[in-house]
Order: sequence, then structure tokens, then C-alpha cells
Amino acid sequence: MKSKNIVWHTGKISKAIRQRAYGHKSAVIWLTGLSGSGKSTIAAEAEERLFTQGINTYRLDGDNIRFGLNQDLGFSQADRKENVRRIGEVSKLLIDAGIITFASFISPYAADREMVRNLLDDGEFIEVYVKCDLAECEKRDPKGLYKKARNGEIKAFTGISDPYEEPENPEITVETDTMDLEECTEKIIQYLRENHYIS
Ligand SMILES: Nc1ncnc2c1ncn2[C@@H]1O[C@H](COP(=O)(O)OP(=O)(O)OP(=O)(O)O)[C@@H](O)[C@H]1O
Ligand SMILES: [Mg+2]
Repeated sequence: MKSKNIVWHTGKISKAIRQRAYGHKSAVIWLTGLSGSGKSTIAAEAEERLFTQGINTYRLDGDNIRFGLNQDLGFSQADRKENVRRIGEVSKLLIDAGIITFASFISPYAADREMVRNLLDDGEFIEVYVKCDLAECEKRDPKGLYKKARNGEIKAFTGISDPYEEPENPEITVETDTMDLEECTEKIIQYLRENHYIS
């Protein structure tokens, strides 16, 4: 921290008060996986399911955040770490606001994801491993990025020329090459129900 003369100001409406008023807990559902594995697709679907049930939700998505807040960051290991750190901090604010947040980021480094887990209270970080075979992701190639990575047009592309560290103990794993979108979405919502985030 650079600033020394700062003092936390506590408001009158706490996270607990917000959660009681909203009738559900708040947490970040952190979707990690290869490009094209289905993180954004699943987040959008699950968010719609929850929002239409009256639950306060929001979505943070890798590319979208790089258009704005993180437009100064690239894809080096240090920048990926800073990308994840900032999203972790934004997630923490949204959780404080009582919102169930979906964060869809490749987030290839286990240590960076762990940093976010440690930033949050127990139970507030729900890691979802969106698992999909690299060959299947490459076949889907929804943004044409694998093609560019194979051509050498994109350097440091996760799965091709940059590492992806699989989660060791994710709260949820969805396998998008064997489960359809509905099954993946339902598995996440089921977890939220069973663990009393929502009723
Ligand atoms: N079970 C599934 N769940 C999610 N997506 C699926 C599934 N089966 C097939 N797909 C398809 O896979 C593609 C996933 O693309 P999507 O943009 O969601 O990936 P992503 O993980 O967000 O990638 P990126 O990291 O590049 O943003 C979509 O075209 C989607 O229709
Ligand atoms: Mg995406």
C-alpha cells in the first residue's frame, strides 16, 4: 500500500444487512478454464436464471474488463496477475454490495486464483473449473484466437504457448465437452442451493 494516512470509514449498511434485505448471500462464482471452454456462455446463462428469480447478480468478463478498467494491462505473467488482483478487488466490492457475481477469466495461474480466495471471506470464493479438452476448445474457436495463436499472430496464448494450471480443489467442475449448457448451469445453481447461498 502506498498511502499511509488513510482510515477505513465504516458505513451504516453492512454486508450482512444487505444480504438479509435481499434474501440471499453474496459470493463470487469464479469461472476458470481455457479460452473457448465456455466460461462466458455459462456465466451469462446462470446469471439470467438467477436474476429472473429476483436474485441480485452481476457479471465480470475478461474481455469486457480489458476494454475499460484493465485496458492498461497485457498478457504477461505480471499483467495477468494484476488483472486477476483487480478483478478480485472488484469482486470483493460487489460481494460487499450483496451481489452474486460471476467472474469469467482464464486466470491460468493457481497462485493468482488463490490470492483472490484469500482476499475474500470463507465461502465467498466459489471456484468453477470449466473443463474442456484443448482440442475441443480449438475446434470451437469462437473468437478465431486459436487460429491466430497457431499462426504466431498471438504470443503467449494459454494452452498453446502459455501455461494453464488446472484447479486442484475447485468447488465445482463442469465438463463442457460432455455436459450441455443446461447441465453445466444447473450444476452451479444446485451448488448455490445446497450450500444455502440462495433458497
Ligand atoms: N456445455 C457448454 N457450456 C458452455 N459453452 C459451450 C458448451 N458446449 C458448447 N459450448 C460452446 O463453446 C463456446 C464457448 O465460448 P465462450 O466464449 O463462452 O468461452 P470462454 O471460456 O468465455 O472463452 P474466452 O476465455 O476466450 O473468453 C461457445 O461457442 C458455446 O456455444
Ligand atoms: Mg469469455
